[in-house]
Amino acid sequence: MDNRHQQNIATTSRLILRPLAPNDCRRLYEYRNQPDVALFQGWTPETPEEVSNYATEMQSRDFAAAGHWYQVVVSLNESSLNEDRNIIGDMAFCIDTETNQQAELGIALDQQYHGKGYAKEASEALINFLFSEFNLHRIHISVDPQNIASQKLWEKLGFRYEAHLKKAVMFKGAWCDDVIMAILKEEWLKRN
Ligand SMILES: CC(C)(COP(=O)(O)OP(=O)(O)OC[C@H]1O[C@@H](n2cnc3c(N)ncnc32)[C@H](O)[C@@H]1OP(=O)(O)O)[C@@H](O)C(=O)NCCC(=O)NCCS
Repeated sequence: MDNRHQQNIATTSRLILRPLAPNDCRRLYEYRNQPDVALFQGWTPETPEEVSNYATEMQSRDFAAAGHWYQVVVSLNESSLNEDRNIIGDMAFCIDTETNQQAELGIALDQQYHGKGYAKEASEALINFLFSEFNLHRIHISVDPQNIASQKLWEKLGFRYEAHLKKAVMFKGAWCDDVIMAILKEEWLKRN
């Protein structure tokens, strides 16, 4: 197994970002099924096992293998005996197979941790990691136009609105609009 699956991806003053592991399954299953979290999320696991199976599958591939979503756990940077209780959410990225130089990003936090700046802190750390670790040129987000909190988050991080696609995504049985927001590496570096 690629040993980077066991290493932290980033740390911030309040958070640790690390690859998803099978033992994280209960927490992810729990908050990803909260109504406010599931509302705009493509992945709402039906069982904790679905999450642990995904983690096992992810770890069987190369670290951050292109064409696959790589799931990253976001936890509070505090020591605790019950480590999985520190998990406040997750992020994911998928590097494109055509160029290996673009990635899509996603995020979901437990609703009790919304509005505390954690999403911005975690996203900043993951974007720094992605631009420095891989030869990425551009990172983009696909977001439901009704998801204001998400658009505000990316806007605050310097992402530009690039497109509003009409009824372009089949989501929970209906055709939905899709907003694309993006940032180039040079824009990110200038912002920092
Ligand atoms: C999207 C999500 C991660 C945002 O998390 P959050 O806790 O609101 O984010 P933060 O507290 O880090 O806030 C980030 C910025 O957005 C702003 N913001 C968030 N919601 C806002 C709103 N409804 N109106 C105006 N500004 C808002 C915050 O003020 C903050 O800006 P600041 O740093 O200038 O103060 C969270 O709502 C979530 O997990 N939702 C469910 C899953 C989801 O929809 N994911 C997105 C899929 S694309």
